[in-house]
Amino acid sequence: MDIVRESGRRVREAHGFTVEDKGTRENIVTSADVENEMFLRRELLSLVPGSTFMGEEGETTGISPEGYTWIVDPIDGTTNFSRGIPIVAVSVALFKDGQPHAGYVYNPFTDSMYHAVKGQGAFKNGRPIRVSDRPLEQGIMCTAWCAYEKRLALPCFKVSERMHPLCNDIRRTGSAAVELCMLAEGAAELYFEIRLSPWDHAAAMICLSEAGGVARAIEGDIVFDRPCPVIAANNGSNLDILYDIVSEEFDGRTPY
Ligand code: IPD
Ligand code: CA
Ligand code: CA
Repeated sequence: MDIVRESGRRVREAHGFTVEDKGTRENIVTSADVENEMFLRRELLSLVPGSTFMGEEGETTGISPEGYTWIVDPIDGTTNFSRGIPIVAVSVALFKDGQPHAGYVYNPFTDSMYHAVKGQGAFKNGRPIRVSDRPLEQGIMCTAWCAYEKRLALPCFKVSERMHPLCNDIRRTGSAAVELCMLAEGAAELYFEIRLSPWDHAAAMICLSEAGGVARAIEGDIVFDRPCPVIAANNGSNLDILYDIVSEEFDGRTPY
């Protein structure tokens, strides 16, 4: 947790960073992302000798079936960060023998640290958190419309169109990790994104499941070794309603 907090301080205090695109104009990386990933790689690998590292901005060896693997997004919400929008997270997950073990999501601009260890509950700044018990009609849904791959946007808009009258309202904050932690702490109730990478959701997903939330992909469970749809909710019945709509709009298949 100290390492994640220190990495967040570096992100908060980063100035004069450069911005480049990663193939499409929407998908950017800053020099602060790259520097922070190098910092986290160095510190986390020395914290757990023999562990492996999977980060968004560097070389990756995948998740080890035995021992420990870190899954790291040095800045989730890079577009927000690059514009001074303070909805940003450092996201660090630890997998053990190929399975989720611990997750840390830290927004350095609000000084919010979410963390969870499997079987030990989820916490925000040290206090236990829980998903809300709000019914669908009072639910806030967080979502996104696939900014980096706009060919997938139309069915995502359809999901929003169909969910909007059923729930309270919709948010798109620009950080999947922050949004999934909002679900974990009971501030939001539903989440859908058609394509997240493991580093976007791995740490927050551990917090969500330890806080009592539920999640799935279109075809079965969420996976952590490749991009995956993420459908999540505060309870099973809200998840089922969202899942049915997503599944209909995508013909029951992951579209990539
Ligand atoms: C992105 C954010 C965003 C989500 C994208 C992610 P990045 O991560 O989590 O909310 O909609 O799918 O890729 O690029 O800022 O690390
Ligand atoms: Ca991300
Ligand atoms: Ca990122």
